[in-house]
Amino acid sequence: TTRTPLMAGNWKMNLDWKQGLSLVEDLGDALKGLDTSAVEAVVLPPFVDLRTVQTAVDAGKLPIGYGSQDISAHESGAYTGEVSASMLSALGASYATVGHSERREYHGETEQVTNAKVKAALDGGLTPILCVGEPLEERKAGKQVEYTLAQLEGGLEGLSAEQVGSLVVAYEPVWAIGTGEVATPDDAQEVCGAIRDWVRTAHGEAAADAVRVLYGGSVKSSNVAELMTKPDVDGALVGGASLKADEFAKIVRYLE
Ligand code: G3H
Repeated sequence: TTRTPLMAGNWKMNLDWKQGLSLVEDLGDALKGLDTSAVEAVVLPPFVDLRTVQTAVDAGKLPIGYGSQDISAHESGAYTGEVSASMLSALGASYATVGHSERREYHGETEQVTNAKVKAALDGGLTPILCVGEPLEERKAGKQVEYTLAQLEGGLEGLSAEQVGSLVVAYEPVWAIGTGEVATPDDAQEVCGAIRDWVRTAHGEAAADAVRVLYGGSVKSSNVAELMTKPDVDGALVGGASLKADEFAKIVRYLE
């Protein structure tokens, strides 16, 4: 397969513009000379930090892509507080996280809303990073695959095989997020493999081969390489560890 590994740093609601600028500068130094044909790195900052990232990338100081942590399900107009996919595209963003468990849990985002946001991202020229993954109770009951695939099916409803092949799915077991309790490589592979199998069955071999499946949940520089040995883990969605330039750069440079 020819899938390029993807390391995405989700800053969540951290770093004001000055702190964001400082991380962007440090990241630029730490990622100097990165072989971008071997690995793709992306940051997902708060909206207020995106322009800072754009400026550094345009100046050739940061060899990465960028995107948002959420987007509006709507195209434009009277939706106070929302930011559209096309606004983000115009800013040079290429990704939008959709359906993160924190959006589902704290902001009431339903399967329908998540699906609408996936479509809004694609329509606006962004690659959705659709987040799925089971809470602890489901894991304890051995229902992690069933639960995660139901979210996947809901999130991708109505998409073409070509669209599904073009996007990114992030498997983030909720119990592993921000807890320091990373999934074992075998546990990550089980669900990431099941995600690809589902895509194969629903959309065919080409889509299954092309779709990138990330693992997220307490990824650090010390555990990323082992996770990446698994055939269906194509990268990582990194939270806490993406807030430190050296640590995130080590994750991005896991091959070196
Ligand atoms: O989007 C990122 C994830 O929620 C993982 O967060 O690396 O802090 O566990 P974490």
